[in-house]
Amino acid sequence: MVVLGIESSCDETAAAVLADGRRVLSSVVASQDAIHAPYGGVVPELASRRHLEVIVPVVERALAEAGVRLPDLDGIAVTQGPGLVGSLLVGCAVAKSLAYVHRLPLVAVNHLEGHIYAAFLTDDPPEHPFLALVVSGGHTALYLASAPLTYALVGQTRDDAAGEAFDKVAKLLGLGFPGGPVIERAATGGDPKAITFPLAQMTDGAPDFSFSGVKTSVSLHVKQRAPLRAADVADVAASFQATVVKMLVRKTVKAALHHGIKRVVLTGGVAANGCLREALEAAAIERGLRLHIPPRHLCTDNAAMITAAGTVRLAAGERAPLTLNAAPDLALAS
Ligand code: KG4
Ligand code: ZN
Repeated sequence: MVVLGIESSCDETAAAVLADGRRVLSSVVASQDAIHAPYGGVVPELASRRHLEVIVPVVERALAEAGVRLPDLDGIAVTQGPGLVGSLLVGCAVAKSLAYVHRLPLVAVNHLEGHIYAAFLTDDPPEHPFLALVVSGGHTALYLASAPLTYALVGQTRDDAAGEAFDKVAKLLGLGFPGGPVIERAATGGDPKAITFPLAQMTDGAPDFSFSGVKTSVSLHVKQRAPLRAADVADVAASFQATVVKMLVRKTVKAALHHGIKRVVLTGGVAANGCLREALEAAAIERGLRLHIPPRHLCTDNAAMITAAGTVRLAAGERAPLTLNAAPDLALAS
């Protein structure tokens, strides 16, 4: 089964072709980082305009690199949501047009399920049941995947997503956009124990996350000590990163143990963070958990993950109508 997948939920325009949902024949990602960098965050209107400009060449390149023509495809998968409505609409419109013209089956994919399916594009895919920590610029949530395509929400952020906190702190420190990679780089020269930022605790004991407190604390610290020297910036970056990582690791391990789950998937843009990957790996070994982390380029937004999830849904007989609409608040589970 050869499927084309299209992803345009935020600021990456991506297309991929996969065989049997596992073999990546091509995966093209056109980043808009340079467009949004001057603003320190994604500007929705600029994002949708850029998607419009590049989506056709991106799809054409994905097909060419895979050596596949549109009539050869067995189906088309597209991200329906969650994400920015203008961005999602571009991907959905292109996917629907191609499906209509070439009479191809169309399937809608939840972007968060796509992130989870990045873990199936490795030599060591997770067996069900597993717990997935999806940690990105828009979401931070724990899902229990009890069986294929079956998810329950175990915990989520009550305010900012972890990636959003990285982006906002990078802006505060004048480090650029996107925040995750620049904070990670700045942190390598800093002391993660230099500053104690607050670790959010849920008074009701829920496995939920909160990152607005640490972000505010960084903001106060930076204001009180301005102007910061390069060494201070490195210490703030390292201490902030260590705090976020500690919160993510603690809650994830606690939830896995609470639910008696032995396998954990770490995915989403923030899962590209080396400190988080190492810390969760160490905690997993200590607690006897099997950890599955996709390679970095599959953690950040891409269409290979959407195609992987879409292929499973197509194979299960799922079809989306040509009236398919973008769903900016689409939930994976409740
Ligand atoms: O999954 P993703 O590409 O897009 C969304 O679905 O949101 O995640 C993007 C987020 C951004 O907030 C970015 O700063 C963060 O992932 N990110 C990282 C790293 N690389 C990307 N955060 C921490 N460390 C990284 N190395
Ligand atoms: Zn994402």
